[in-house]
Formats: sequence, C-alpha cells, structure tokens
Amino acid sequence: MAIKYNADSKTFILETRDSSYLMEISRYGNLLHLYYGDRIPDENLDYLIKIQDRGFSPNPNEAGNDRTFSLDYLAQEFSTDGKGDYRIPSIEVINGDGSRIFSGKVDGYKIYKGKYCTTGMPSLRAISEDSVQTLEIRLKDNESKAAVILYYSVFEEKNIITRAARFINEGRESIRLHKLMSVTMDFRLSDYDLVTFDGRHTMEREFTRTPVRSGVQSVQSCRGASSHQHNPFAILCERNTNEDYGRCYGYALIYSGNFIIEAEKDQYKQVRLNAGINPKSFSFVVEPGEEFQAPEVVLAYSGKGFTTLSHLYHNIFRENLCRSPYIKEPRPILINSWEAAYFDFNEEKLLQIAKDALEMGMELFVLDDGWFGKRDDDNSGLGDWKVNLNKLPNGISGLSDRIHEMGLQFGIWIEPEMVSEDSDLYRAHPDWCLKAPGRPMTRGRNQLVLDLSRKDVCDYLIDSINAILQDAKIEYVKWDMNRSISDVWSAQLPAHRQGETLHRYILGLYYIMDHVILTHPEVIFCGCSGGGGRFDAAMLYYQPQIWCSDNTDAKARLKIQYGTSFAYPVNSLEAHVSICPNHQTRRTVPIETRGIVAMDGILGYELDAFKLTKEEKDACREQIHFYKKHYHIIADGDYYRLSSPYENPYYTAWQHVSKDRKKSLVSLVLTDKESNDAQMYLRLKGLDKDAMYTVEGLEGRYSGALLMHAGLPVPGELNEYEGIQFCLEMI
Ligand code: GLA
Repeated sequence: MAIKYNADSKTFILETRDSSYLMEISRYGNLLHLYYGDRIPDENLDYLIKIQDRGFSPNPNEAGNDRTFSLDYLAQEFSTDGKGDYRIPSIEVINGDGSRIFSGKVDGYKIYKGKYCTTGMPSLRAISEDSVQTLEIRLKDNESKAAVILYYSVFEEKNIITRAARFINEGRESIRLHKLMSVTMDFRLSDYDLVTFDGRHTMEREFTRTPVRSGVQSVQSCRGASSHQHNPFAILCERNTNEDYGRCYGYALIYSGNFIIEAEKDQYKQVRLNAGINPKSFSFVVEPGEEFQAPEVVLAYSGKGFTTLSHLYHNIFRENLCRSPYIKEPRPILINSWEAAYFDFNEEKLLQIAKDALEMGMELFVLDDGWFGKRDDDNSGLGDWKVNLNKLPNGISGLSDRIHEMGLQFGIWIEPEMVSEDSDLYRAHPDWCLKAPGRPMTRGRNQLVLDLSRKDVCDYLIDSINAILQDAKIEYVKWDMNRSISDVWSAQLPAHRQGETLHRYILGLYYIMDHVILTHPEVIFCGCSGGGGRFDAAMLYYQPQIWCSDNTDAKARLKIQYGTSFAYPVNSLEAHVSICPNHQTRRTVPIETRGIVAMDGILGYELDAFKLTKEEKDACREQIHFYKKHYHIIADGDYYRLSSPYENPYYTAWQHVSKDRKKSLVSLVLTDKESNDAQMYLRLKGLDKDAMYTVEGLEGRYSGALLMHAGLPVPGELNEYEGIQFCLEMI
C-alpha cells in the first residue's frame, strides 16, 4: 500500500519506492507536515513536533489556555490565513463578510486506486489503475463553509508524488479567492539552496543557485505565459548537493500561465516553499456551490543528488505526461524555413530548400512564418489563416503535394493566439483581443493577444486550425506564441471578475489544444513561444517536442540545454543546426559541433543549404545517419550531465546511456582552448562497473569501473568549439 492512515497516531503515510511523506492531524484538527525524504519504516513521527510558548505567536481559540500551540511556527501541509501563521500562505480569500481568514481543519479523507484529475488542466495519468494511489484530504473552514481538498497521488514505482488543491464554496455567500497554492511544503531545517531556471528571450533556463535567506524570495511569471524569464520548475536542495550526492526536492508545475515559486526562511530558520498560480493580478470569484481547481505540481525527491532527480522527471514526463504517441517514436529529421528564408520566399525557393534538405537525408519540410494573409513582415496578417496566393499560388495543399511527391513530409507554422491590427480578423472582431477600455493599447511584436478566456474565440480558433489541417496533408505543426500579455481585460467578464482573465485564458488554451491537438494524434505538434518562452510540463502534455530557444548558436545552446535537462527529457526539446556566423550571436562554430549539440535533443535543421559547402553538406548527411543510429540511446536512455558550463570553462560534456547500460554515447564540446594546456580526463557515468566496454576509435576494452573512475582522456588536438563523441558498447 503506497498510502496508509494510522488512526492511532493520526498520521497519513505516503510511500514511494525510495521516499516517504508523512503528515499528521494535530489535536485541534490542523494538518501538520511531518516528513518528506528518504524512505523510513517509522509511522509515528510525533516526537518531531516541538511545541513551546513563543512570544508574539498567537494561540487559536481551541487551544484554550495552552500558549504552546501556535500556527506561527508549526510545519503545515496547507497553511491557514489570518489565524496566526504569518508566513507566505497557501491561500488568500475575501469572505462574504469582508474577512480575510481561512482556517482549514481536517474534515475527512479518502484513499483510492488510480489518479485524481485536475478539471480543465493537464496532469499526469496512471498507466494502470494499480500503479497509482490517491489520497484526498478535506480541510474545512467552519465559519465561511469553504473547503479545500488536498490531492496526493503516489506513483510508487516512479518515486513521484503529485499534489493539487481544489477550493469549494459550500457556504451561502460568494468568496473571492486571491491565492491558492498547488503545494506548500514546510522544512524544519534551514540550510537550503533554491535552484531556479531563469533567463530571457534567446537565453532561457540558465541554472541559478541561490541560498535560501531570511525573508521571502521567489521566481514568477506575470507575463501570461510561463515565460522565458523563469521556468515553472525549481529544486530545493541541501547546500552540499551536487549531481551525485545530497538531498534535493523538485517542484514542476503543470501549468503554462502566470506562476510563482516562493520560499521563505522564517524567524526560527525553518523554510516554507510554495508553488502555484501567481497571485499577482489574480482573483477568482467562487460563488456558492462553485469550485476552483489549482494546477498539479509534480514532486520528486532524491537523496542522491540532481542526476537521480532529473531521471525521475525524465521518466515520468516521457511515460505519464505526454499524450502524443510520438513521445515514444523517432521524430522525422526536419528542415525549417525560418532562418533559411524568413519572410522572403515563394514556392520555388521553398521547393529548392526542400530539395537540398532531401539530398542531405532530411525527412520533413516545415514552412515557418509568412505563408498566410498579408504577412510579408511581422507587422500584419496574424489572425488571417488563409494562404497568401501571391507567394504560394498553388496554396498550402499544392505546396504540400509537391513536397510529398519529392518524398518529404510537410509541416506548417501557426500562431493562433495572436492577431494583427492590420488583419481581417481584427477588423471584424476588435473586441476579441485583450485590451482595457479607454486605454491605449500596448503592442508586442506589433501584435495583440486574442482573448482566449472567451469560448467564442476558442471555438473560432478550433475551427480555423482544423480547417488548415483538413485543407492539406500536414504531418507537423509548430504552434507559436510571440509576445508577453499586457492590458489584461476581457470584454466578456464583469468588472469584479477581471482578475480571472489570465487563468481563463490558459483554460481556453487547454480547451483549444484538447480539441485540436488531442484529436489529431497523427500530427506532431511542436510547442514554441519565441523559442522557449512556454517550455513547461503542461505544453509537454500536448506536444512531444518544444522549440527550445530562438538561439541556435551551439555554444549558447550548451547552457540552454544544460538548464533544460534538469526537468525535461532530451526527446522533448527541439534543437536545430543553423548557418554560421550564427544569426543570434554572430559566432562561428564548426558544422560538426553544431550537429553534436543539436543531437542533444530532437535534431533538426534551419538553414539554406545553398550557403553550405559540399563538405558541410556531407557533414549534415553524416550527422543524420549517426543520430538515427543512436536515436534510442539518446531519446529513451538515461541522461548524465558530465560537466556544468557554468563551472567548467574548458568543456561541456554529457552522456546518454541506454536503460540496459549496454550502449552509451558521450558528447563533449571544447569551450575554451588554452596554450600548452593540461591533459583533461572525462569521468563517465551510468555504466555497469563490472562490465567491459569498447570505445569506438580507441584500441582495447575498458571496464565500466575504469571509465567511471579514471575516465577518458580529452583529446588534446581539439580546437576551441570543436567537439567529439564517443560511442561505447558493452561486450
Ligand atoms: C518565433 C519562433 C521562431 C520563428 C518566428 C517566426 O520567434 O520562435 O522560430 O518561428 O517566431 O515569426
């Protein structure tokens, strides 16, 4: 049994293969947190709760004269608000009488087989009923009659626990919800670092490690999407944690909108971590009888450092999150027209790009932006999803037919959530976009955002996208979203509900994706938001791959892909070989290195082959052959970061190991070349220490133990930005 309730100690016990999670009902009905960490056999951890009379720590009424019981310092599972806990709360409400108090006491629980569901939002699924168990704990505020259901699903074998929360108004007055966290987790100890993945457009998910200090610190998005700036994934770890050692806790939100991950070190050096929808600009009116669902957060614990933690996420995301059948399939090697032609193309030029791509072994031609409406630059046309016959006189279907006749598959770019002012759609429905009445609009990339909180807009988009998919044979769709949202106001919501708009936008987006993406499992959808501006677990539920960054420079990608790899599996990130000097950084890196780096993901190309030399074309052909040969080790194996681009200035290296440890691919890129430099050795990971391996290109056989403890010499003849790959095979 993965979930138990011990009635004597009033303890809930959640167990995965390697971790335990315990909580206890206090003598006054509050749900206290006891423990989350390495698996322990014990069931009564009451001794951990140390109560004492503390100054300025209020005592709830039910404690009578007992001045030792205070929510000001006790570790809780879901905090009260307005009852003497002053830390960052799990919930904020305004009740019908104007009070801002929520005091949830345990009012029942349920344990059942299978997984709960988060209405209207993506979440992990149980492959079989028996593989997952769920606990629901009901907390009730007796005065307002509001309840919160806390959900816990235990994926025992996968070492994963998910949490979510639902607010239910069971009273007679409407309640305005200002905050509802998906998870609150209290830690009794204090020496933690918070690892977050931060950045900007073209430099996403940079690894950032900060000590948790006294007071509150957070990462958040208030841009309407999960954002380039901060990823909805964070790790809380002990100070000494590294790849192979130390305790660490992961929090991955399955949500694509505004989020917050916040940590507070309190007056007694305890740490609280919250994650959920960002309360900034958020409120939701919950009428009597109505509910509000907070998104799911995927928790993982590793007592053995970051690598193990990453493996837990990679496995669960590959197997229990993504709905596309392609997550388990090799994806076709694509050529994308964006950096090859931008907006400047006609059918002839596209066919030439496709022909060159075919000759190099590519399998899918993707027509990027610029094919529709009056879209000769990025100032117009969004919303008019009708082909531009001046550029493509035979329409999309004609182009698709010719591409297929050549022997390639065909894909297309769309940006359905946006509208240009210079578009027929905007002229017909100016009220369909987010904009506040009487205020000048704020533009981003000269475009406006459609109001996806409206069902009529969502239904229109479902019909438009389905029409595109019906009009031509399309095997791949790149779904883009190219601005941060501002001027949030929906013409369909009353004034007191405007705080709901951005969350409703995300629900609308999921509704559209449910009706377009999930109904076309045969099409590969690739997520994109100016590259990696919406690289999150919810998008991964719908799309087996996400364009990792608009930055295609191989050196910059080392950092971007390193950061991305902490939560997201290799086969979810799309990576392209592009032309040099690189269009984003103007750096020149050998074509072989560009291939090595792009193979650390779903390999693709984004270049005009006309600008390649014969040798470079040959190199691309070889890369594709090599990648396909090793695809399953890369996509389905275990991933090891062998060095950090932030700590090792000389090289960045990583390794893929097949699950049976029989095959491995090691990749290394030299990032700084010194004169007369020291010989460097690369210690491998994940091999069977007792087995013998061959290393392609090296004489002899080597034990796994030797390769992991003594390592492989890094060839001294490598030049700066050159790379090397080693293929290992067990004998
Ligand atoms: C975004 C994407 C790019 C490209 C352009 C087209 O920036 O990230 O890959 O599709 O839009 O406008």
